[in-house]
Amino acid sequence: HHLNTMSLLLGIGLLTCITSSGSAETSVFVLKGQDVRLNVQTNVQLKDVDVIFWKFNRSDNVVMYPRKVTFERYRGRAELIVGDFSLLLKNLQEEDSGLYDAVVSGINDRNVARYVLVVQEKVEPPVLTVNSVSSINGTCNVTVTCRGQNTSVTSSCNSSTCSQVGGESRGAETSTVPLLSVYVAGGSIICNHCNQVSWANDTKEIVELCPLKSGKTQTHKYLSPPAGSMSVCMLKIILVSVGLVIMISAVITVHIRHRFHYG
Ligand SMILES: *[C@@H]1O[C@H](CO)[C@@H](O)[C@H](O)[C@H]1NC(C)=O
Ligand SMILES: *[C@@H]1O[C@H](CO)[C@@H](O)[C@H](O)[C@H]1NC(C)=O
Ligand SMILES: *[C@@H]1O[C@H](CO)[C@@H](O)[C@H](O)[C@H]1NC(C)=O
Ligand SMILES: *[C@@H]1O[C@H](CO)[C@@H](O)[C@H](O)[C@H]1NC(C)=O
Ligand SMILES: *[C@@H]1O[C@H](CO)[C@@H](O)[C@H](O)[C@H]1NC(C)=O
Ligand SMILES: *[C@@H]1O[C@H](CO)[C@@H](O)[C@H](O)[C@H]1NC(C)=O
Repeated sequence: HHLNTMSLLLGIGLLTCITSSGSAETSVFVLKGQDVRLNVQTNVQLKDVDVIFWKFNRSDNVVMYPRKVTFERYRGRAELIVGDFSLLLKNLQEEDSGLYDAVVSGINDRNVARYVLVVQEKVEPPVLTVNSVSSINGTCNVTVTCRGQNTSVTSSCNSSTCSQVGGESRGAETSTVPLLSVYVAGGSIICNHCNQVSWANDTKEIVELCPLKSGKTQTHKYLSPPAGSMSVCMLKIILVSVGLVIMISAVITVHIRHRFHYG
């Protein structure tokens, strides 16, 4: 029951994310292994001999109604919801990507829904590596390369912005291939790898890459106290030694005087 609610919520969530393209078809992106529910896009009322079909890639029948049937290839993973004629697809795999049509067949055929379904895997986390760090007039310049599954991008970054200097670049929205972007936010260089259904990132803190001038001074200050305490220690040793020498010579002097007087 809980799972059903989950998938229903997911379906609703995804349907709100649907992006309409110029044509009659609607693109739907789904994470591999998830469920989706495709609704009819016009008001459907079945009359007399009317039968509704959901079809895949124009030729494969998925489900039909009335006489509620799920066709062989889709048994156990597709279902027509009788109340609103929507199609529930479960545990989607990459092979399920393609065109889904709902057709009402009677005296003639009427198309009542068209979706382009794209099933995508979760993106792999990218790896951000530092190529070089340089400082020009106190401004830090970090060159990084970010590698995703199949692509890489090289960017040159300072503390506020990154600009791409190498690697592939693509238009974001039109691509179904995972996209890499490198930018600076919250004091970190961030590489984000994303597709329409998931994202992952790798980050590096800028302060750890390029310590500021004041940071270096602090490092020096931090190092000097031990040196200071060392000399204090030395001073003590010298003072004690000098004291000891004075005392010994005093004792010797007294001893010699004593001998001189009474010897
Ligand atoms: C369905 O059609 C899409 C786009 O035309 C194609 O990429 C995909 O391979 C087809 N799927 C099957 C199982 O035929
Ligand atoms: C660094 O600063 C000096 C003087 O402030 C200036 O002449 C020089 O052009 C600067 N160099 C760069 C690379 O900005
Ligand atoms: C930063 O360093 C890279 C590599 O050393 C260099 O190609 C780039 O021009 C530098 N950027 C700036 C703003 O100095
Ligand atoms: C890498 O990209 C090429 C072409 O862009 C594609 O054919 C290939 O399947 C991709 N490999 C992976 C692992 O995504
Ligand atoms: C970072 O680099 C950009 C462009 O290279 C430049 O406009 C900006 O002033 C730089 N910011 C800092 C803090 O150096
Ligand atoms: C980076 O990924 C983590 C975990 O995957 C996420 O919590 C965080 O919001 C992401 N950061 C950015 C800037 O996308």
